[in-house]
Formats: sequence, C-alpha cells, structure tokens
Amino acid sequence: MKLDKKDILRALELITVPGEGQNMVESGAVKNIMIFGDEVEVDIVISNPSLQARKKTEVEILKIIHKEVYEKAKIKINIKVDAPVKPKTNEIKGKPIPGIQNIIAVASGKGGVGKSTVTANLAVTLAKMGFKVGVLDADIYGPSMPIMFDVAQEKPLAVNINGKSKMKPVESYGVKLLSIGFFTQRDQAVIWRGPMASKALNQMIFDAHWGEIDFMLLDLPPGTGDIHLSIMQAMPVTGAVVVSTPQEVALADARKGVAMFQQDSINVPVLGIIENMAYFTPEELPDNKYYIFGKEGAKNLAQDLKVPFLGDIPLVQSIREAGDIGRPAALQDDTVVQLAFEEITKNVVQETVNRNTNIPPTEAIKITTMAGCSAVKKK
Ligand SMILES: Nc1ncnc2c1ncn2[C@@H]1O[C@H](COP(=O)(O)OP(=O)(O)OP(=O)(O)O)[C@@H](O)[C@H]1O
Ligand SMILES: [Mg+2]
Repeated sequence: MKLDKKDILRALELITVPGEGQNMVESGAVKNIMIFGDEVEVDIVISNPSLQARKKTEVEILKIIHKEVYEKAKIKINIKVDAPVKPKTNEIKGKPIPGIQNIIAVASGKGGVGKSTVTANLAVTLAKMGFKVGVLDADIYGPSMPIMFDVAQEKPLAVNINGKSKMKPVESYGVKLLSIGFFTQRDQAVIWRGPMASKALNQMIFDAHWGEIDFMLLDLPPGTGDIHLSIMQAMPVTGAVVVSTPQEVALADARKGVAMFQQDSINVPVLGIIENMAYFTPEELPDNKYYIFGKEGAKNLAQDLKVPFLGDIPLVQSIREAGDIGRPAALQDDTVVQLAFEEITKNVVQETVNRNTNIPPTEAIKITTMAGCSAVKKK
C-alpha cells in the first residue's frame, strides 16, 4: 500500500486538542509528516508537558492512522513539548518543591480590582486546557478562594505520605486548593505579621501533598508591603501577573506593583498586565461598550512599562454572581467571559514559556537585616 501525506493529514484532523476546540492540524501541532514506503514519521508539538498527555496523544495518532489510513502502517511519532519548560532548578536552596513547575503570583497594588476573580478563572481555564493546576490563596487578610470555589465548608484532610502527615489540598473544578481561610474562622479578624504569614504559607507549600502541578497560582493580598516580601521569601515565584482596572488610582498602584517585582532585591519577572473591568456591556445592548473606568488604561500602562499586555475582561454581572455562588464564570460555555479568559490564559502560558526559555529560575530572597524588611538580598 502506498501511503499518502494527504490521507495522514485528513486522519489527524479527526483528533481534537483538549480545551482548544480545534483539531490537531488546525492548531498547528502537526509540524511535519514524512513517508517512507509503509512507514510514517510524524513530528508533533504539544503544549501539555505531562507524560500522560504525551502518551494519550501518541495512542490517538497510532489508532487513527491505523483505522483511517492503513492498519499495517509503521508509525513513528516524535513529540516535542513546547510549553512551560521546567526551570532548571525550581527550588529554594535546600528546599526543593517536588513536582511544582511554575508558581505564578497574581497581584495588583490596589485592592478590589479583581485579583481573586482573575486567579479563580485563570485556574479553571488552565485546568480545562489540560494543565495540572493548584491555587494557593495567600490573601491572609481576606482569603476568598474557598468561597469562589464553593468549598468554604471543607477542610483539607491529612494524608500519610512516606510516614509523614501532609495536608491534602481541597479539590474543586479540577483545581487543587489551599487557603488560609480553611484554618481561620470566617468572621475572625486575624492579625498577621510577615514572618507568621510566611510560615503559614510555607506549610501550605511544603507540608502539603500537591502532587504534580504545572501551574501554581498565588492569589496575593492587595498592596505592596511587608507581607509580599515575606511571600516572595517563602517560595521561588516564576513570574507575576498584575491586575488593574483602567482607572487612574488603580493604575498608579499597579505601577507600584510592577516596580515591586522588578526591584533588584526581588527580581521576579512580570509576565504581564491584565485589564479587569475594562468596559461595561449591558445584557440587553450587547454591542454597546461603556468605558466606566476609562479606556485602555492598563493596556497603555503595559506599553509604557514595556511589559506584555495579557488581555482585558469586561465588567459583567455574571462574573460577580459566579464569584459569590462559587463557580468561576469562565466555566460557562460560549460566553464573552469564557472567551476573554481563554485568550488571557493562552497569553499567560506563552509568557511563562518565554520567561522560562529566556531567564534563569527565580531565586528565593532573603531578608538580611534583623530589623526586617528594609534590606533584602538574593540568596
Ligand atoms: N470583571 C468583573 N465584572 C464584575 N464583577 C467583578 C469583575 N471582577 C471582579 N468583580 C467583582 O468585584 C469584587 C472584587 O473582586 P475580587 O475579590 O476578585 O478583587 P481582589 O482584587 O481580589 O480584592 P482584594 O484586594 O480584596 O483581594 C468581587 O465581588 C468580584 O466578584
Ligand atoms: Mg482578593
């Protein structure tokens, strides 16, 4: 039997890429097809780095070519992973974080601009794309992940791993979750100092059984203070995403947020800026956009600071409602909100890949004065 490239392509078009709604050929995953008699060699690029995803892709390709083209074809598949490449040593000296590939901090400067909303929606979108996702709610002042994921009543269980007792993250919508909110009373005001907060966060990272995680999202508290420094000290953050509304006061704080990550002593790469509440669209007038907080402020800020712009999210009632109900709005199929988060999530993945390709892993920072946080130095 003489094999034909076109037949192979047609067969591969029957394989859909999870989370993208495209087939393997459309998505550009098929890089090359070579035919030698009854042998086919296929070069594929996939974005999901897990072994499972590779195996699954291989099996699908084998099956479909055997079924659709020629059952005796000899097939060789070369898979290249073009996504969150693993930083060379993602670890704090002496404290490796086994299994966790990328830690992404979501920050803002100003409070209430939508960090937690963005974190939750990014998380479920990444999970839908096939990544293994964890969320660490580091907002010690007002943890909101348990509510946004509808698990406020749950408590992490203890599991025994190699004779050690570890916390098992709570799971919701395919996302693993730990929050300081699981350990405090809902209406109890907790006064945290930097070192206490970093100790609690440390435990949630190192004394928890996360398993394999491609993306760990960190929902940070608002501001650019002492607590942020403690968090950066507690773990090697791969990159930061800064959320802002287009409003002047929010932009000023976002600028500080970016500056905080970029200062020499912290030096966490900023993956980009997200504009939240970019415009309001009433349900009954879907084509109208009202720029309540100003137009493209965060986009312009990104340009000004020469950091990537990751996309914008409209102000819509369903986002707020979804947050309160505990089912992130991006899970609602075929909505403007879902599309917006898909676009942003793809950009975050891409910027993470760029970052990991171009810059060495982040080192944890160390506070070097007894007085606390005024002077910091890289380890
Ligand atoms: N695009 C949006 N459309 C409608 N409501 C939104 C949107 N983004 C966020 N909200 C709502 O605004 C409120 C604040 O959002 P969120 O809690 O995510 O902000 P935050 O930056 O995490 O706040 P904090 O600084 O207190 O941690 C929430 O009630 C949320 O549901
Ligand atoms: Mg928040």
